[in-house]
Amino acid sequence: MRIDIITIFPDYFAPLDLSLLGKARESGILDIRLHDLRTWTHDRHNTVDDTPCGGGPGMVMKPEPWGEALDAVTGDAPAGAEEATPRLILPTPSGAGFTQKHAERLSGEPWLVFACGRYEGIDARVAEEAARHMPVEELSIGDYVLAGGESATLVMVETVSRLLPGVLGNTASAQEDSFASGGMDSLLEGPVYTRPTSWRGHDVPPVLLSGDHGAVERWRRDESLRKTARNRPELLRAAPEGEFGRRDQE
Ligand code: ADE
Repeated sequence: MRIDIITIFPDYFAPLDLSLLGKARESGILDIRLHDLRTWTHDRHNTVDDTPCGGGPGMVMKPEPWGEALDAVTGDAPAGAEEATPRLILPTPSGAGFTQKHAERLSGEPWLVFACGRYEGIDARVAEEAARHMPVEELSIGDYVLAGGESATLVMVETVSRLLPGVLGNTASAQEDSFASGGMDSLLEGPVYTRPTSWRGHDVPPVLLSGDHGAVERWRRDESLRKTARNRPELLRAAPEGEFGRRDQE
């Protein structure tokens, strides 16, 4: 998968060299390209913002550098995928709520472009113009306001990338994640343990050492339900009728 990130802070993305994503980039599974928006400014101060039309606080990102940046970045198709259309992601607190479902869908795309806004956001005509050439999605990572789209982009890139075949050592582990479709769907993952079996007076639950796979599965499901009821009760209420048996609801 190719991912282009346009930002005024390319250094913000140093963590993408680390760990699983760093390895996926080295192996070629992930082709992440960073672009400094100021490359597409033409004044002495490399200006990317201006005051909002109609007044109000803060500054708005000017459309011209964004237009040129998107033309340059999206005009350059990945090798062997000249027909591929990029999908533009605009991280914004006013976007649709980003979920594991979005991540699963986006992980099937060949090419994503993230446009990181700062200040009060990007002039709305940029998204309007981009939508004439490619699909555009506004996504929010939560009901709070970040200083810019960079940290939201890091979150979404990591969430999508770990779903690509070959990125996680064990593909089963992604299927069992909290929120994963087909696996734990609307339940949270319960507690996990490793050796030593006794540590500072705390013991690993004996069922996990019993070798009884059926009992382990039942225990894990019960623990998932318990954790979901405690931390995210609304997920249980939102589950389809009959999703969790009567025993589950008790
Ligand atoms: N930019 C600022 N806040 C954001 C949020 N919550 N999600 C995505 N992008 C953002």
